[in-house]
Amino acid sequence: MLPIGRNDLANTMTRSLRVLYLEHNESDRELVRMALDDKEMAFEFVYATSGAEFAAALDRERFDFFLSEYTRPGDDSVSALALARKKCPDVPYLFVSGTIGEERAVECLKSGAADFVLKERLERLLPAVRHALREAGERARSCVVEETRRRQLEAQLLQAQKMEAIGQLAGGVAHDFNNVLTVVIGYARLLLDRGTLPPDAVELLTQIFTAGTRAANLTRQLLVFSRKQTVNRRVIDLNQVAGEISGMLLRLIGEPIKLELALSPAPCLVDADGGMMEQVLMNLAVNARDAMPRGGVLAIATERITISDAATRRHPGARTGEFACLSMRDTGCGIPPENLERIFEPFFTTKEAGHGTGLGLATVFGIVQQHQGWIELESELGAGTCFRILLPAAPAAAMVPARHPARTVTASGGSETLLVVEDEPAVREFAVAVLRSHGYRVLQAGSGVDALDVWKWHGSRIAVLVTDLVMPDGLGGVELAARLRKEKPALKVVLTSGYESGAIGEAFRPPAGTHFIQKPYRPQVLAQAVRDALDDNYDR
Ligand SMILES: Nc1ncnc2c1ncn2[C@@H]1O[C@H](COP(=O)(O)OP(=O)(O)OP(=O)(O)O)[C@@H](O)[C@H]1O
Ligand SMILES: [Mg+2]
Repeated sequence: MLPIGRNDLANTMTRSLRVLYLEHNESDRELVRMALDDKEMAFEFVYATSGAEFAAALDRERFDFFLSEYTRPGDDSVSALALARKKCPDVPYLFVSGTIGEERAVECLKSGAADFVLKERLERLLPAVRHALREAGERARSCVVEETRRRQLEAQLLQAQKMEAIGQLAGGVAHDFNNVLTVVIGYARLLLDRGTLPPDAVELLTQIFTAGTRAANLTRQLLVFSRKQTVNRRVIDLNQVAGEISGMLLRLIGEPIKLELALSPAPCLVDADGGMMEQVLMNLAVNARDAMPRGGVLAIATERITISDAATRRHPGARTGEFACLSMRDTGCGIPPENLERIFEPFFTTKEAGHGTGLGLATVFGIVQQHQGWIELESELGAGTCFRILLPAAPAAAMVPARHPARTVTASGGSETLLVVEDEPAVREFAVAVLRSHGYRVLQAGSGVDALDVWKWHGSRIAVLVTDLVMPDGLGGVELAARLRKEKPALKVVLTSGYESGAIGEAFRPPAGTHFIQKPYRPQVLAQAVRDALDDNYDR
């Protein structure tokens, strides 16, 4: 039985309140009973004349509050209070006494009594009882709220752990796949580029190339979900990203859906990968389109907001501070509550076979996590859905002018000597083959440590180091490049990676003066990166 509170007091006529009253004097009992005669509340008394009787009644029944006489220090009432506090800590205990002195009263309150009322002032008893019951009810209610909140946090933690485990698994598989696909797609491209094959062979090769590219796209999404995709960060304005991509979104969502843009008047700056931000917008927009087959409104908004301490309780990932908020609201079918927990899992889809892989939101989730942000979601069946993406805001001073738009890739070769370092033999051979076909002299090594060996003998003629970021013997690409550049500051560096290993979730920033390409890469992209490095061309 929970103690009653403010709203319950009005309903107590339907149930009388049970009181255990320790008092040996019958006339005092009668006075107290009269003092508690009330139109709104009914009381049912159980009397005890000694500490032993009080203890027995406590074992037998449940009570809404306790009353007790107080005669002298150390009498039964003091031990009864201790017992009641121990067994029913939430049930209020009030003293009714003719003799209690101020000092004793304070002591009793300190030991957990809710109040004391002098027998000469029994008109205070009813209000004191009401007050004590109300306070106990409120305490109980806040305990329930705390408990519910604790359960929610536990469930959210479990969900986060599940996502992490799926991410680890998916990321591991995707990483190996990425290497395999680099080889498949790469060789197919090399053969196609020869231009000397018979048409039927070109057709078959094109099929291999196309299927490989599709597989690479899926793999890439899995890598993003598991936060193993390398992030190319710089300070960008979300308003600019949204503005630039809105034309494409418009074509994507089609006629019957109205696109509304409400961008913040001031730039909405974040330190982020622009390509990934575009992908977030695209994935959310495609989902919104699918949720509105008969048309509707897709509203995209940006704003800069300050998250306060209280607001962080709304979401487990939330933190205080300055954030950029990108929201996308649709007036579509909404998401059933039972699906809400699962929609960010990879391969969770409610679409018919062939219409969705269930990777769209997993990708969004991975990207947002990798940018130290979180997603808030509201959805109502039949009314629509709103995704709010919160990312740490970047200070305006950090903005750098936009780079030139990507140039079309026109790889040209050269005759310089290059060192290719890559632990995956098939990928290494492929890279070597590509670069040799462009005229370069190519040395190779299977690890960072092997590369140091090659460097010892040939360092003086190596113009470009092409190295994988993550290698097994502990010497990664960035450190290798730094070491070699100490000896030869003019050395050009091209870093490659299919994913970000090690500290999951931390963004990788290519060190200044290095070029970076993402696996799986196409032959021209590799050749162009090497040429750009040689020509000190950092525009791409
Ligand atoms: N805006 C939305 N309105 C209603 N349901 C949505 C919305 N966004 C996502 N969902 C639900 O979440 C599921 C998962 O979305 P997700 O983008 O991950 O995969 P998908 O769209 O099914 O497939 P994919 O994006 O890989 O083509 C969807 O199948 C759909 O049921
Ligand atoms: Mg989708």
